[in-house]
Amino acid sequence: MSSEPRPDTTRLQRMARAYTETAVLWAALDLGVFTAVAEGAIDEDAVATSCRISQLDAGRLVVCCLTLDLLRSEGGKLVNPPDVARYLVKGEQSYAGPWMTFTRRDVPDWFLISELMTDGPEPTLLGMYGDLTVERARNYHNATYSIGMGAGRRFVRTVDLARRKRMLDLGGGSGAYSINVVKTYPDMTAVVFDLPPVVEVTREFLADNGVADRVDTIGGDFTSDPLPRDCDVVVMASNLPIYDADVIAGVIARAHDALLPGGEMHLIGEMLDDDRRGPADAAMWGMNELLCAGLGRAHTVAECIGYFVQAGFGEVEVTAFVPGTLQRVAGRKAVGAD
Ligand SMILES: C[S@@+](CC[C@H](N)C(=O)[O-])C[C@H]1O[C@@H](n2cnc3c(N)ncnc32)[C@H](O)[C@@H]1O
Repeated sequence: MSSEPRPDTTRLQRMARAYTETAVLWAALDLGVFTAVAEGAIDEDAVATSCRISQLDAGRLVVCCLTLDLLRSEGGKLVNPPDVARYLVKGEQSYAGPWMTFTRRDVPDWFLISELMTDGPEPTLLGMYGDLTVERARNYHNATYSIGMGAGRRFVRTVDLARRKRMLDLGGGSGAYSINVVKTYPDMTAVVFDLPPVVEVTREFLADNGVADRVDTIGGDFTSDPLPRDCDVVVMASNLPIYDADVIAGVIARAHDALLPGGEMHLIGEMLDDDRRGPADAAMWGMNELLCAGLGRAHTVAECIGYFVQAGFGEVEVTAFVPGTLQRVAGRKAVGAD
């Protein structure tokens, strides 16, 4: 007799309608439900008034949010759970609404995966990044900034750069990591290396944060253009699934070559467990490359360690950067290396 319980369709049905959860999250964000609750809307009637929707619709939406733990009822009053209070209430420093809705325009393509696989455009090395405009880069990085600043703060909390001088931020986007590094370490400078249309936008974020005099930018393609050779730290964050194994291994090898002797590199990204059973998010970012007409895919932790070792890094180690979501692989270039 099998010890597995008799299967039913519950799990599969839930998955078949998982898009409804996304839709409810976005509707509540669009209507400002979480902000209304933070400002004192304690019941459905108050949500209806604040969000200018009917009581019937407020009732439908609130009950969906309660079942998804996007809202809670405590002592008969609606409250936001801690993560919602921190990231989904407008006006909070950590508000991440732009990031949470960032992939919205991709929704139709996600439901056309099979067509894209059988009949889609020929993928290219840079995929969607190959024809980025400044305007698209600005929209894109308004979203990444809303989540990247939190990641940048986490980076400076968890990595000690006290003896470092200059950081290369590969594919640095908004510059969120560099901004946090130079603000934390007054003697450090940084350079954001990203595609030419992106660095125009990076400079806007650097100026807004008052660090334009300590963070430079270089517009280029990190898969082929020369990397600056005056840095003792490299960070490469959240661009891992954009490329395949050969390209990522090549970039890490070139970063090792460009680093000053004794320098360190940190690769932060969604990585698959070595048995490839999770996390699903890492696999999904790999699939996202189909939509971007790129050649990238998800990488396992062991593969990422391999890229570092192959490049010549020593003291290679893996740390959970955001447990269950992002890993950080770090390595050090030998002191005596060229
Ligand atoms: C998801 S964003 C991450 C931005 C930033 N590292 C962060 O964590 O907030 C990925 C970035 O990688 C950059 N990128 C992708 N391919 C690149 C390439 N070949 N050369 C330079 N930058 C690249 C993109 O332009 C984009 O800014």
